[in-house]
Amino acid sequence: MAAQGPDPRLTPFVAGAIWTVDYPVRYAGARFRARMTVIRLGDGRLILHSPCDIDADLRAAITAIGPVGWIVAPGTFHHLHVGAAQAAFPDASTLICPGVEAKQPGLAHDGVLGDVPPGDWRDEIDLAHVPGNRIIAEVLFFHRPSRTLIVTDLIELIGDRTEGVDRVLRFWWKWVTFMWNKPRPAPEYTMGWRDRRAAGRVLRRVLEWDFDRIVLAHGDLVTENGKAVAQEAWAKIVKRR
Ligand SMILES: [Fe+2]
Repeated sequence: MAAQGPDPRLTPFVAGAIWTVDYPVRYAGARFRARMTVIRLGDGRLILHSPCDIDADLRAAITAIGPVGWIVAPGTFHHLHVGAAQAAFPDASTLICPGVEAKQPGLAHDGVLGDVPPGDWRDEIDLAHVPGNRIIAEVLFFHRPSRTLIVTDLIELIGDRTEGVDRVLRFWWKWVTFMWNKPRPAPEYTMGWRDRRAAGRVLRRVLEWDFDRIVLAHGDLVTENGKAVAQEAWAKIVKRR
C-alpha cells in the first residue's frame, strides 16, 4: 500500500499507482471543483495529469511519491496551471493536447500528444486523441495496470454526492444541461460538435479498452463499472456511424 502523502489534498485512488488532488475552480460564473491526477509508472516516475496550482506543501507531497517525469495538459481546457507545475518541477517534460499551443502560445512544451504514447509510457499507458469539436478537445488516458480511464471533460459526473458545487452550477446542471446525477460530456462538447462521427470512431475504440475505474476532472470518481458509465456518457456520440 502506498502511504498517503504528508499533504491531505493528495489522495490515493489506486494504491501505489494513482493519486488525485481536488481544487476549487470558478468558470462561467459558477464555482465547482477540478481534479489533478498523479500517475506513477512502474519505474517510479510520475505523470502530473491536468495539474493544479502547486504550492510548497503539495510539491513536497508529490516529491515524496516519486520524481515527476512529465507534466501533461491533456485537454484544451486543462492547461492553465502547467506553468506553475513547470516552475515546481523544472526537470519534467511537458506534453500537451493538440490545440493547447494555439490557446496558450507562450507555453513551453516538449511534445504534442497523439494516439501513440511516448516510448517510456508504452507498456502501461494507452492514449486516444478525440477530434471533431470546434470548442474543445482532449487526449484520453488509459492506465492499463490499474484498469483506469482518465478523462478531463469528456465525462463529467456531477450531482447529489458531489462536493464543492455552488447554486449556479447546480441550477445549470439540473435545469439547463440536464446533466445532474448523469455522466455526460461537458456542455462545451455538446455545443461544439462538427464531426461527431470522427469522435465516435475514437470513442468506440476507447470503449474496447479494459478499464473498470474512471478518474474525471469534474465530479464523482468512478470506482467500478466504469465501462457502463462511459457507454452512458457517450451513447449519443458512438451510435452515429
Ligand atoms: Fe474541465
